[in-house]
Amino acid sequence: MFHNVHKEKRSDRKYLYIQTFGCQMNVSDSDKIRTLLTGEGYETTNDAENADLILINTCSIREKAAQKVYSQLGRFRMLKERNPKLILAMGGCLAQQWGPKIFIRAPYLDVVFGTHNIHRLPEFIREVEKNRSPVVETGFNPSVKSLDIMAVPEEGAGSAYVTIMQGCNNFCSYCVVPYLRGPEESRPVQDILGEVKKLAGHGIVEIVLLGQNVNSYGKAIDGNFGFPHLLQAIGRVEGIERIRFTTSHPRDLSEDLMRCFAEVDTLCEHIHLPVQSGSDDVLRRMNRGYTCAQYLKKVEGLRHYRPDISITSDIIVGFPGETEIDFQATLALMEAVQFDNLFSFKYSEREGTAAVGFDRQVPEKVKGQRLQQLQALQEKHTQARNRILEGRVAEVLVEGKSKNSENDMTGRTRSNKIVNFRGAHELSRKTVSVMIKKAYLHSLRGEMVKGVGDLCSSR
Ligand code: SAH
Ligand code: SF4
Ligand code: F3S
Repeated sequence: MFHNVHKEKRSDRKYLYIQTFGCQMNVSDSDKIRTLLTGEGYETTNDAENADLILINTCSIREKAAQKVYSQLGRFRMLKERNPKLILAMGGCLAQQWGPKIFIRAPYLDVVFGTHNIHRLPEFIREVEKNRSPVVETGFNPSVKSLDIMAVPEEGAGSAYVTIMQGCNNFCSYCVVPYLRGPEESRPVQDILGEVKKLAGHGIVEIVLLGQNVNSYGKAIDGNFGFPHLLQAIGRVEGIERIRFTTSHPRDLSEDLMRCFAEVDTLCEHIHLPVQSGSDDVLRRMNRGYTCAQYLKKVEGLRHYRPDISITSDIIVGFPGETEIDFQATLALMEAVQFDNLFSFKYSEREGTAAVGFDRQVPEKVKGQRLQQLQALQEKHTQARNRILEGRVAEVLVEGKSKNSENDMTGRTRSNKIVNFRGAHELSRKTVSVMIKKAYLHSLRGEMVKGVGDLCSSR
């Protein structure tokens, strides 16, 4: 948002450079941070060398994610050596995990703020601007104030995130998130609807609802108003043409929610439903709360209500104790489901999680082999699922210019697949009909259907 590339620095301006790691929750938090700091007189820049404030929004989900942050910190340290006035701030999950201990590794940081303290960032920055001494705040708050910060959308944006809940109570045995984002808390429905309406007023046509486990939305507020009700309510907001959500926990995917895919017109036919493993034994030790058969039953239910639904997932290979038989069960589950896309990871031990104490660690080499085998199988499935769309007309929400060609535009189908096609720049934020000509692994190539006057919605 507000990316202003500038060549020469103007002395009356303060420039902010943000780097974001991790999940969509962090991307959304960075959007909020930009809005907050715009109020403090900061303008966003794409050029770290020219910034007055560098903010790094971090992730700790796997060791590799943490490593990326450390190497970036090293780079920013050099900038600080050149410009001692530069303010360096670190937020997000790794900041939450380390707290003040991060100063041992990075004593040059000025602000370290946790996942529940985003709303206080302006105060922290002002303090550093004034006193030039470091500020650390990683406490948890019972009510997370940052949930109510609305990121003002970038000029011309069509899609926006809306956080509907914070934290997680699931404690999957491999996962750090519950420790770093705190307990699950749902945002009041009126606040969510208010934000969605405001975004529609800004020209936003697609809303992506965010939470670690959106399916359990409302449980802690009032048992009678759950996630399906929320979807129905957002489905009635004028101007919103598409609704998406992430992430769903398979255990909490109810029949009512599945039915929404048939009943709420604006709900896109895509669900990200992380399965993690196809072995019941591994699932039990992961503390996932469902069996492989129960997962398959949910997939069947989703396809009953919405036969063309696109299903994507996450899988971890090499969880402690995962045998070759367990791994084969995961491949068999993939064959049974035929995911549209898959994010797959080697198990990474995270400090403080239950799985740290588990025996029978899987050697790195075996993890690598399994990951490769699994990804090769997924490529076949992704290709096959994408190919089904060849020769069909898809409704595409145009996002902007394509990275590959000046004359091409890029957008997404309702099933969340990227489509590139020849088209004018004015189509941004519009919904157009595109005939899919060719399916690739990561995108589709299409042609806009001629005589589009009546096929384009224009907002
Ligand atoms: N809340 C979401 C996603 C959490 S993190 C959910 O429950 O689905 C995204 C993915 O990272 C997880 O689905 C899991 O596949 C992966 N992941 C989490 N912890 C991991 C670890 N310690 N090692 C490897 N992968 C991990
Ligand atoms: Fe982590 Fe499990 Fe919570 Fe997802 S549901 S954030 S994997 S503990
Ligand atoms: Fe990473 Fe935190 Fe998201 S650990 S995946 S940024 S919730």
